[in-house]
Amino acid sequence: MGGEVRQEAINVRTRAYAPYSGFKVGAAVRAASGVIYAGCNVENAAYPEGTCAEAGAIAAMVAAGDTVITDVYVVAGSDTPVPPCGGCRQKLAEFGAGDVPVTMATVAGTEQHTTLADLLPGAFDAAFLEG
Ligand code: THU
Repeated sequence: MGGEVRQEAINVRTRAYAPYSGFKVGAAVRAASGVIYAGCNVENAAYPEGTCAEAGAIAAMVAAGDTVITDVYVVAGSDTPVPPCGGCRQKLAEFGAGDVPVTMATVAGTEQHTTLADLLPGAFDAAFLEG
């Protein structure tokens, strides 16, 4: 199970488009359907227009018709596992419960485990929009 999401994240990372930072990231999310969706970071000459790997994986998931995340895996080539940025924490929290496991990893195989709730305490969510 866990090995599959890692492999998808590792594979998609090789296709990251990161000519500006040189920092390639791969992300894979497993949906409640069991399907795994992968995404890589896609940078742009207009730097702020770049998108994170997590955002790509989420977009692929939603485009395919899934909206519930049950597992997240993020891998980068850094020495230590890389945590999702603040914006991606919010994006992930939109589709996953607080207890969803998030694995941050290096290509070399070091893993760090956390959950969506631990990544984004006090999250703003749809409940606040209701009053
Ligand atoms: N990046 C991701 O894709 N995901 C993360 O979790 C951290 C950062 C990307 C954004 C940018 O293309 C590069 O890494 C350097 O910040």
